[in-house]
Amino acid sequence: MSDYAERDQGTLWHPFTQQSEWADGRPLTIERGEGNYLIDTEGNRYLDAISSMWVNMHGHDHPVIRRHIHEQLDRLAHSTLLGLASPPSIELAEKLVALAPPGIARVFFSDNGSTAMEIALKMAFQFWQQSGDADARRRTRFIALREAYHGDTMGAVSVGGIEAFHAAFGPLTFDVLRAENAHCYRCPYGKTFPECDIHCLESLEGLLDAHGDEVAAVVAEPLVQAPGGMLMLPDGWLARTRELCDRHGTLLILDEVATGFGRTGRMFACEHEGVTPDLMALAKGLTGGYLPLAATLATERIYEGFLGPVADRRQLFHGHSYTGNALGCAAALGSLEVFETEGVLERVQQTSAQLAKRLDELRSLPSVGDVRQRGLMAGVELVQDRETRQPFDPEDRVGHLVCMAARKYGVILRPLGDVIVLMPPLSVSAEEIDLLSDVLARCITEVTGD
Ligand SMILES: Cc1ncc(COP(=O)(O)O)c(C=O)c1O
Repeated sequence: MSDYAERDQGTLWHPFTQQSEWADGRPLTIERGEGNYLIDTEGNRYLDAISSMWVNMHGHDHPVIRRHIHEQLDRLAHSTLLGLASPPSIELAEKLVALAPPGIARVFFSDNGSTAMEIALKMAFQFWQQSGDADARRRTRFIALREAYHGDTMGAVSVGGIEAFHAAFGPLTFDVLRAENAHCYRCPYGKTFPECDIHCLESLEGLLDAHGDEVAAVVAEPLVQAPGGMLMLPDGWLARTRELCDRHGTLLILDEVATGFGRTGRMFACEHEGVTPDLMALAKGLTGGYLPLAATLATERIYEGFLGPVADRRQLFHGHSYTGNALGCAAALGSLEVFETEGVLERVQQTSAQLAKRLDELRSLPSVGDVRQRGLMAGVELVQDRETRQPFDPEDRVGHLVCMAARKYGVILRPLGDVIVLMPPLSVSAEEIDLLSDVLARCITEVTGD
């Protein structure tokens, strides 16, 4: 039977999807990938302008990544890191430590962004619990930001701050101290950057002043709160947050799941402000988007907190069946080779400048309220009234309609509410940026009547 759409509707349950609506439509079924394009079962080509949920870095059929996977497959697909070591995981860990900000020394593998964050939270918690000092053992709480997203497992949901995603599980989550994020387009203080001098950081500072000695870690996405609506944290926010953590003796966990691997123009977003976190979560782009693999990186200080005689039971109590999967590590080594040999970060400087220029043109459309961009991560926020910044009625699902319209013109987009997310692979060409920008302008006009 080749009617995939019908078979999909008959059996699958899709993530973050209202299945009753899904069943009304005809799901687009993707069969192949070529460069930055996805090809459906009917042979139609689509520019993958969301990098297959922000994971694909160098296109879908990169020969270097394929070679690394094939060569590893000829040797071994998977062996466990519980009680055994493996060459690809060792090589990858060494490479990640070499690339990470100075001070990062250890790598713990898992399979996705949520687990990488879950592990970071458990590491921070356990670190303080087994610190010799009774005061340090009081550090059991986390500070996280409004509009934060760190994944869908329960620890990650607890630190998450997006009402629509997380409210349903409220009773199951642990209590978190919630700091204001920097929402510059809709600043709750009515201020403007840079005159505001990042006034919103006073919220974090206030929480640390009041509860600092109970806080295990501050948890944040560096530079861009992507799932929160492509919200950009202003320059200086991260460095000042690191200073606040240091002043209060608390750890800083950075979630680089979306921002890592070149998205913001540097290998890791925290490099822009010279910040080294105590713990750092990586996933999505780690394998170039080819296989599920994640890593939690730690400083030597954190790692040493887990050392001791076996009888002391100080080891990290966490592990997954597929931790350090050999094929995933091989794919990641392939992706890092592409970064090294193909001048990827230099190219991102050019393509992101071109994207900025093209997105700037969209500002002339009346329903474009805001355009936010960092490297090849961008969001275009559509609003009912540009003057008052009044949003569209969510029931109108304007963002969704714009993204559906883009499919007619061969572009795959997925919105966050009425924010259209643009996150093409780092290998996106100048022509593809033009195509993406032209199609977006056309679809906004079609849907909103601009
Ligand atoms: C910033 C951030 N953290 C964590 C996650 C969770 O990653 P995963 O979907 O691989 O579990 C995501 C996914 O979108 C993310 O954007």
